[in-house]
Amino acid sequence: MDPTTAIARFDRVRADTELLAAPLSPEDQTVQSMADVSPTKWHRAHVTWFFETFVLAENEAGFAPFQDQYWFLFNSYYEQVGPRYARPMRGVISRPGAHEVGDYRRNVDNRVRDLLDRVDEGTFAKLAPTIELGFHHEQQHQELLLMDIKHVLSLNPLQPAYAGRPAEGDGSDRLGWVDIDGGLVEIGSDGGGFCFDNELPRHQQWLEPYRLADRLITNGEWLEFIADGGYLRPELWLSDGWARVNAEAWKAPFYWREADGVWFEHTLHGTTPLDLSLPVCHLSHYEADAYATWAGKRLPTEAEWEHAARSYEVSGNLADRDSFHPRAAGPATGGLRQLFGDCWEWTSSAYLPYPGFHPAAGAIGEYNGKFMSNQMVLRGGCALTPPGHTRASYRNFFPPGARWPVTGLRLADDGGGA
Ligand SMILES: [Fe+2]
Repeated sequence: MDPTTAIARFDRVRADTELLAAPLSPEDQTVQSMADVSPTKWHRAHVTWFFETFVLAENEAGFAPFQDQYWFLFNSYYEQVGPRYARPMRGVISRPGAHEVGDYRRNVDNRVRDLLDRVDEGTFAKLAPTIELGFHHEQQHQELLLMDIKHVLSLNPLQPAYAGRPAEGDGSDRLGWVDIDGGLVEIGSDGGGFCFDNELPRHQQWLEPYRLADRLITNGEWLEFIADGGYLRPELWLSDGWARVNAEAWKAPFYWREADGVWFEHTLHGTTPLDLSLPVCHLSHYEADAYATWAGKRLPTEAEWEHAARSYEVSGNLADRDSFHPRAAGPATGGLRQLFGDCWEWTSSAYLPYPGFHPAAGAIGEYNGKFMSNQMVLRGGCALTPPGHTRASYRNFFPPGARWPVTGLRLADDGGGA
């Protein structure tokens, strides 16, 4: 990457965020519907703060922040940068408003462009990895912006739509299986492009032969789980999961609602009758695991998933489609379908450092490493993931009880059998 390319990529990623926010009014952009959700305008400001803090502050001549208090308001979790406003209270911040956040964005955009225009070669070489991280960070927040506004709109009895339209279902065929040889395999980024620090170091792992389902589990298949008492049978559940089922009265995936015997699903394009051929989504890890137990199967490990996915092209139903929702798998291919896009796939792997992992020094080292506790790994990407943002080695992670992200389920099984 040279400075000219950096400016072009910067402009693109910054414009993409604004395009995603465009259908949302200032009022839409202010609401925080639960602690895990951030207001749209906060996402727009926080990704701006990231460039201001990690790119401009140390490299812009005569640097001064756009607004002193924004450093406090829009720092997410970087202890080494300074104190932060409490996350669960982001929704009570009426000022700056959505338009003022736009002013902040334009100011930082211009200053980053100026910096990249004038930067000398040595400084750019030092700065390039942080700029690149800023692009991928902003894309992560583009996905979160959509997941978060989906929750905000779900609480409105007017059932407003964000954008898009339903994808046409195409039926769902029988679940097929793909056998995969085990052996000594390489896991982690191969250095062929950008990766986050948590995808390194590349290392060897031993895999026994295994099988993966050739597509995601569908809404129709999930209904069979419900009909068979899936949410009522403790023997299917991990202990922590069973506690959540009871404490929170789980009876179906997060955005399903039943009315007069008909199931409906809240989506970004509105509330629609449940399409049985679409992948089931908005599951916790506990639900995915319980289903796998019920089906007599298991979840894949993250290494199994990555090893299998490495031989497939990274394409699928990502956020460049117009439904903003998972789509049906389409006809069987003999290989794995829906690997990239549609739903983030829960694995049975705890989110842990790879052997030899060391976070970077300084505040930027807080990006991933400090979250390696009490979270499970998900793979693949979803229908809200920006195109170009995911890859076979990408490690997403959420707490096992999380249901608001676009999460689904692919079954795995031990190989070498019938
Ligand atoms: Fe962030």
